[in-house]
Amino acid sequence: MTPIYKNVEAAIPDRIADLLQRMTLSEKVGQMLQLDSRLGVEKLITEFEVGSILHTSPEQMIKAAGYIQKTRLQIPLLTADDAIHGHSFWPGATIYPTQLAMACSWDAGLIQRAARETAKEVAATGLHWTFSPVACITRDLRWGRVGETFGEDPYLIGELASAMVAGYQGEGLADKTAVLATAKHFAGYSETQGGRDASEADLSRRKLRSWFLPPFEKLAKQGCRTFMLGYQSIDGVPITANKWLLNDVLRAEWGFKGTLVTDWDNVGRMVWEQKTEPSQMHAAATAINAGNDLIMTTWQFYQGAIDAVASGLVKEDQIDKAVTRILSLKFELGLFEDPRLPDEEVQKRVIGHTDHSQTNLELARKSLVLLQNNGLLPINQNIGAMQIAVVGPNADDAQNQLGDWAGNSGQINWMPDGQPRHMIETVLDGLRELSPSHWKIEHSVGAEIGELVPDERGANFEDGQPRPPVLKPARPKAAILQPALDLVNASDVSIVVVGDSIPLAGETLSTATLNLVGSQIKLIDEIAASGKSFVLVVISTKPLVLPESAFAAGAIIQAFSPGMRGGRAIAELLLGNFDPSGRLPITFAKHVGQQPVYYNQVRGQHGDRYADLTQDPQFAFGFGLSYTKVSYSDLQISAHTYDLDSVLRATVKLHNQGLRASLETVQLYVSDLVTSATWAGLELKGYKQVLVNPGEEKIVELELATADCSIVDSSGIRRVEPGAFNLLVGPSSRPQDLLCAEFEIC
Ligand code: NOJ
Repeated sequence: MTPIYKNVEAAIPDRIADLLQRMTLSEKVGQMLQLDSRLGVEKLITEFEVGSILHTSPEQMIKAAGYIQKTRLQIPLLTADDAIHGHSFWPGATIYPTQLAMACSWDAGLIQRAARETAKEVAATGLHWTFSPVACITRDLRWGRVGETFGEDPYLIGELASAMVAGYQGEGLADKTAVLATAKHFAGYSETQGGRDASEADLSRRKLRSWFLPPFEKLAKQGCRTFMLGYQSIDGVPITANKWLLNDVLRAEWGFKGTLVTDWDNVGRMVWEQKTEPSQMHAAATAINAGNDLIMTTWQFYQGAIDAVASGLVKEDQIDKAVTRILSLKFELGLFEDPRLPDEEVQKRVIGHTDHSQTNLELARKSLVLLQNNGLLPINQNIGAMQIAVVGPNADDAQNQLGDWAGNSGQINWMPDGQPRHMIETVLDGLRELSPSHWKIEHSVGAEIGELVPDERGANFEDGQPRPPVLKPARPKAAILQPALDLVNASDVSIVVVGDSIPLAGETLSTATLNLVGSQIKLIDEIAASGKSFVLVVISTKPLVLPESAFAAGAIIQAFSPGMRGGRAIAELLLGNFDPSGRLPITFAKHVGQQPVYYNQVRGQHGDRYADLTQDPQFAFGFGLSYTKVSYSDLQISAHTYDLDSVLRATVKLHNQGLRASLETVQLYVSDLVTSATWAGLELKGYKQVLVNPGEEKIVELELATADCSIVDSSGIRRVEPGAFNLLVGPSSRPQDLLCAEFEIC
């Protein structure tokens, strides 16, 4: 007789119940483990009875499926990885711009398309689950993981993350191209101290509810199937032990029915790093009792959980609840019938598909933000002979252009050389390919960022994991600098491509400085001093602080890690082949000491400046130039007074005064003029993207639900407080860019 759990006709709850009553305690505990396949899949399956693996090379995945067939109950594995801006660690997959870069597009539809394509590539390779998107809000730019976020605004993050989840999960889990999405890192991980990764987050529940939770709430209610916990502790409680957040808020209040996964060794870290648990047994008990499901990489959890049951610290039915949630994913994906193994035929059809490459280029174009332009750009292609100097360490660094979580960025070991070079277009490649054939495009690197050297504290952390090497900044070397300066002097215009590099970004890799590292500032200083005309292109993982000499540039372009086609997109922008439309999803500081510099600061400090510096950002949230000038005027609202559940309608007039069409991102902010508890000066509540043709005047219609004009009061309840508000509409969050209309809610 076929057991019920193997009967595809039976209802999923019955199949789970049947399987659970057949499982031993150790098999159940094993299901809760998600271990790193680099430990060897045979060992993981036979010794730990593991339910899920991550960081799985193609070969390991096939082997693992074979070993599963030999187990007693043949419970399929859930395979997972970080395919976070494309199928990061699959050779030849499409690598899109990073989340921060994508966010500059403010284009949820395009981001959803990229996620759908990623899901197709991922699913073809036997992975069921991607650890994406990141729904953390950036707070301190020194944090190493800023580039993994959609920026600093909860509303924008919610919109874009939700589009990504829709793209990954597609039509539903029964669809063979759907992959599980993950809302991470739940919640408050980005509230670092001094930007330091995974430091204790100084957060009240009210502050969480005000800014950090809203994007996650949106994803939970949308049906994002998994949530990953952060690393940090809040108010003394490691997130893995936070029953309030996991059960009261996520499951009870928001109705989340999905599955949780811890972050890397969260359970073990409560013992060896946070030191809140005396043993692995106690840590396992705390994690299970707090409502965790999958335990990432803490292999000690296997024995720890078994011991915890034996010693009465945990009841087995608590483990059953977690295993039920894990098995329900496996049944819903249909893995018992079809374990969705790698399919070489499908891979040939979808990996790196030309349609995906086209989406990638569109996204790269929309991810570029023009920050300054004195008219040097676009470069006129109709002039005669011309020599362009392309200098700087990021002008032709293909792998670095992909950003973190791609190819050889350090998380996996099977792609030492990164993604195939021929699939990546650097700025140098792009200019060589797209410039008129009679132009000369010459290259000289001019500066270095630095080199990796071993950390002098030893090669490994306490738990045996490798300690990353550290970056030693390069000093200026005449042999590198001088040829570049000679080239700049001999050229008509120079494209100076600077930025940061992978060793300066990512997990554990926060930076104390936001300055350009190594000999880059010297290069820019010298070029600026030469008086020659130059464009500065910054390819960086996150916003950096630019030196004064940078502003001598005729134009400045920001490109957050722009993906495989990023260099081509930059070349197209330089040559004027399209009009820049990227807008900043994050604020740029003038000085590292201005942290935090996000736009939606809470009112009430003394004054509005430092004694030695203003608090003005270098570039504001929402800002970005185009090659034309679009003016905003005549903001009208439908009425002055609204009740608590009505919709305010407004119009604003846009006028394109230039000669090129422009995609405008019309931004709508709200300021609640008097609040019962201190609150942000203004908050983004909506935006609309409209194409305005040369000379055209366009009336743009906007809507705002009064229910969205809420604050979180001092007792932690989100509500709309009747009273006076300002509706602010414009092309950026800068006060001087915003038109204002007052309205009342009563
Ligand atoms: C740790 C990171 O914090 C998380 O974002 C990632 O998904 C996991 N490792 C798995 O690689």
